[in-house]
Amino acid sequence: MNQAVKRSWWKEGIVYQIYPRSFQDSDGNGIGDIRGIINRLDYIKSLGVDIIWLNPVYESPNDDNGYDISDYRSIMSDLGTMEDFDELLEGMHRRGLKLVMDLVVNHSSDEHRWFQESKSSRDNPYRDHYHWWPAEKGTPPKRWSYFDVESNAWKYDATTDAYYLHYFSIKQPDLNWENPKLRQEVYDLMRFWFEKGVDGFRMDVISFISKDTSFPRLPDDAVPDDFISMYANGPNLHKYLNEMNREVLSNYDVMTVGEAPGVTLENALDLVSEDRGELNMFFHFDLMTLDRAPGEVFKMNPNGWSLKEFKRIFSEWDAVFARKGWGSVFLNNHDFPRTVSRWGNDSPEHWRNAATMLQTFLLTMRGTPYFYFGDEIGMTNIRFDRIEQYKDINTINMYKKIATEGGDLDEFLLDQKDAGRDNARTPMQWDETDNAGFTKGDPWIEVNSNYKKGVSVVAQENDPYSVLNYFRRVTAVRKAHVGLVYGSYELLNVNNENVYAFLRSHDKERYLVLLSFSTQNEALTIPGHLNYNRIEKLISNDLIKDDETYKEFLLRPYQAIVYKLS
Ligand code: GLC
Repeated sequence: MNQAVKRSWWKEGIVYQIYPRSFQDSDGNGIGDIRGIINRLDYIKSLGVDIIWLNPVYESPNDDNGYDISDYRSIMSDLGTMEDFDELLEGMHRRGLKLVMDLVVNHSSDEHRWFQESKSSRDNPYRDHYHWWPAEKGTPPKRWSYFDVESNAWKYDATTDAYYLHYFSIKQPDLNWENPKLRQEVYDLMRFWFEKGVDGFRMDVISFISKDTSFPRLPDDAVPDDFISMYANGPNLHKYLNEMNREVLSNYDVMTVGEAPGVTLENALDLVSEDRGELNMFFHFDLMTLDRAPGEVFKMNPNGWSLKEFKRIFSEWDAVFARKGWGSVFLNNHDFPRTVSRWGNDSPEHWRNAATMLQTFLLTMRGTPYFYFGDEIGMTNIRFDRIEQYKDINTINMYKKIATEGGDLDEFLLDQKDAGRDNARTPMQWDETDNAGFTKGDPWIEVNSNYKKGVSVVAQENDPYSVLNYFRRVTAVRKAHVGLVYGSYELLNVNNENVYAFLRSHDKERYLVLLSFSTQNEALTIPGHLNYNRIEKLISNDLIKDDETYKEFLLRPYQAIVYKLS
């Protein structure tokens, strides 16, 4: 191991993300809940994961499924009670699982008491908890908004004749971090959850919190990407994260992972280098935009993506954290389509190998691996046909915007089949009974019908060859080889467009990882500089061809193999 790298539980742990609305309903209201998760803890433990990241469960009017919080210290009634939450945390800790909550403090709900006060008058004590632009100064400089039907991040409010800032929906006003009182409120609510025993936070769009309150103009032709880069580089971002670390985080043994759109390879270490005292890890967006149209976040690129670029992204990010900081490796989350549909292949012929190959990938990379619920059984995109099927404010408001502008709605709907966030939000597929065993009521969003075609826990539980049982084996392989966590990474066969091959080295141990992203058999020759006498297979998701030699391999479609070299 690199001597500088300190071991820790959040580096060695495997994360499993749960979108609570969609995981398991226990009371028949069609919405997943905390008790549903409690009932499934033994299942979660059986997967070999260690850390659960829970999307927001706080009180919320659900404009954006809980990312619009109206009370940071209580549980959303749809999801349960504080007693349920305490029982969940206790049940997790008893099983040796850690709990990471979502911290959404770039913005609150407009129904939060702070905002109600803030908008009531210009001299209210909470006025400066949010960003206001008084109308007598004219129209505010353009700011782009993610979910607004006009993409406008300023909303006029007649009560005080002023505009408030909302990078997301009009019901998600941005909190004013430049106000020290607001920062103290946030630190207090963080302490509230840490005192309960919570093990960390995933911090929603944390790169956006600090704003240049002189609100400089951007050029008229600025695209969403230009705004995102600006939002991410607020003048006091590092000052505030450092303060948060000093005042709160450093007092607890917790993990932090920031969602960090706009953070680049060049400034990555500013956020997570140990000597900075800020965060442990963050999610960058380079992979999440690889298959997107230039400058866009939610629109597909008709030219697709290439494996060479995919490899380049992972290799460059690995190099950044080789000596300092620590990376997070992920292929999806609740904001992006399903992994196997997006980066693999969900056709009946290739689905199993593609899903297990991608699992193998995340579990053999350096950095903390993040899985999203349902990945372990290879859940796929639902590909809705009609706008009425969508529940996501993002899709619905983009549709309204295109309709108002007279744009091509059919083209948009076609694109959303691959890009839409709701692909990730369909319910967990437990069994083959109605609604896949997710609910006895009407599910809040449609269930993918392939729960009757093998994509369910029950169908896979007793099949040793299933995606689910492969997942359990490959998590065990990572656990048994600390070199797969900390070992250095070397990309092999750089220009190969079909196979991702890399080497992990740790002290005297070396691991060779071969991953096919191809629908054909692929012959591969391992470069001569890798000297080894013996090669021992640790795991493979398919049969190995008999005719392979020590340096030449023939991979079946979407095959993954991990070897130990000596
Ligand atoms: C983050 C969340 C996303 C949410 C947005 C606004 O990107 O992951 O789900 O819509 O922030 O809170």
